[in-house]
Amino acid sequence: MTTIHDVRMITLPELGDERGNLAVIEGGGDIPFEIRRVFYIHGSDASVIRGRHANKRSSFVLINITGSSKVKVIDQDANEQVFVLDKAHIGLYLPPMIWKDMYDFSPDSVLLVVSDEHYDDAEYVRDFAEFMR
Ligand code: TYD
Repeated sequence: MTTIHDVRMITLPELGDERGNLAVIEGGGDIPFEIRRVFYIHGSDASVIRGRHANKRSSFVLINITGSSKVKVIDQDANEQVFVLDKAHIGLYLPPMIWKDMYDFSPDSVLLVVSDEHYDDAEYVRDFAEFMR
């Protein structure tokens, strides 16, 4: 069983020089899986709560490449923790079977998400009571 102790922040390599910054997201290295899917959430405002699900198989890394958001994670022992994402070179690693709520999006928030699985609605657990059973 995964717990919130398996959730961790990942510092991505930043190859900055006088021309600006370059953060690298490379599967199998700092990202602890091979990447099969990339999506990004933008245009959500401070009143919105997204996520509200766990995934049976997928792992994720979430990176607020612009702006900020918060992520509340909950495990099946009901431990919970809130992470603030506000840096383009810091990711939040989430293993499978961790409940996640994303909220408090800044107006300019672009939340980039990489995953090791293609999208499959059948592996989403969207009922919190079912998740806790
Ligand atoms: P949803 O899971 O509600 O997004 P979030 O976790 O950010 O709140 O997804 C919204 C819709 O988009 C839903 O109909 C499923 C679909 N979707 C895909 O088709 N592919 C994807 O990779 C994702 C993340 C969602």
